[in-house]
Amino acid sequence: MTAAYLTASRAGSLKGTVRAPGDKSISHRALILGALAHGTTEIEGLLEGDDVRRTAQAMQAFGAEVVRTGEGCWRVQGKGGFAEPADVVDCGNAGTGVRLIMGAAAGFDLAATFTGDASLRGRPMNRVLKPLGEMGATWICRAGGRLPLTLKGGGLRHLAYRLPEPSAQVKSAILLAGLNGAGCEVVEPEATRDHTERMLRGFGAEVEVFEQGAGRRVVLPSGQSLQGISVRVPGDPSSAAFPLVAALITPGSAVTVEGMLLNPLRIGLLETLGDMGADLSVTNVRDEGGETVADVTARHSALEGVEVPPERAPSMIDEYPILAVAAAYATGRTVMRGIGEMRVKESDRIALMAAGLAACGVTVEEEPEGLIVTGGAGQVRGGASVTTHGDHRIAMSHLVLGLASAEPVRVDEPGMIATSFPGFIGLMGGLGAEIAEGGLQPA
Ligand code: S3P
Repeated sequence: MTAAYLTASRAGSLKGTVRAPGDKSISHRALILGALAHGTTEIEGLLEGDDVRRTAQAMQAFGAEVVRTGEGCWRVQGKGGFAEPADVVDCGNAGTGVRLIMGAAAGFDLAATFTGDASLRGRPMNRVLKPLGEMGATWICRAGGRLPLTLKGGGLRHLAYRLPEPSAQVKSAILLAGLNGAGCEVVEPEATRDHTERMLRGFGAEVEVFEQGAGRRVVLPSGQSLQGISVRVPGDPSSAAFPLVAALITPGSAVTVEGMLLNPLRIGLLETLGDMGADLSVTNVRDEGGETVADVTARHSALEGVEVPPERAPSMIDEYPILAVAAAYATGRTVMRGIGEMRVKESDRIALMAAGLAACGVTVEEEPEGLIVTGGAGQVRGGASVTTHGDHRIAMSHLVLGLASAEPVRVDEPGMIATSFPGFIGLMGGLGAEIAEGGLQPA
């Protein structure tokens, strides 16, 4: 994708059945655990987006053999640990990639230098460096804990750590560091996605999880060793959200996404859309490799604004941009609070959604840790050129907005969509969406 702009226009209804790309969180973890394990890990359905490809390259840099054997099929020959990379490890746009890999690398007696693109170099790494430092890792980095940074690992101490922010990335970094160290214990006051815990068990590690109110205590004993396995990556609910919401807001539509991950810690958006009156049906519920997956159908619906429970945020943190789009077409106010974490994603997503929706004629109120959208009861003006700051989810959200708005919506930097959803334009086009290169002059 080299276009400078993409423009979405209102066309007919959206109809059809699609498969969402592989889950990004699970794809990163499958490559990293495969590299840390002894023996062969065969991965099927891997997300072949830029973020995950960077992690595949990084695993090679740390000594694993990583080969693509077919579409979405990758083989990792793990060496039972990490070796020192010969060059800088560039994680591109991927916060999950760099934070998990730093955690895993900290467990070994090596030095590794990490960097990323301009967005990643602007994101806080202190949240990971603090616990890794308490375990005994050292580093040198730019001010504010920013990349590039050089991390020195090995000889780690046991750590018992309470997460100050709900972050599966930080939890995972600590668990991966504890794996080749002296073990660890992580308390999370609010439960976050648990793919690392589940997958560690799948690779043969001992991990204990204790429910504690709304949160959990995760205990990883020392002296663990992983064995390669086969991993089937389910469809990413964070990507499936775009065609599903597109169907909900576009009159006459019915779209099915097959094989979507329904991990209980990832279904906050489906719950919220259900509360808004969305016509959603979940069929063919099954277990695939320890995760629940199903086919989900969305039909055009008259949505009602809701107050999203703030405690639901960790289970849908990446889905608030597209929820804000659904809210723009709903009747009444949708109140989203307790979402301060959105400000430290690939962009400040609260600010960019507020600006993009306002430019498209939607009434929005921005709060330090919240966003309130007053919907147009099925009517949105559109007719704006939206700045995405290279954030894939900001781009896809506004393109979906433009599929049902009176006037087209244009986004910049659309190439970044490939970080999480390569093939987004083709998939949406197959459902009947009109998304084309260029279009619409800046206002
Ligand atoms: C992820 C965790 C979330 C999420 C990110 C993927 C993961 O980040 O936003 O896209 O795979 O662990 P935080 O853990 O920082 O909230």
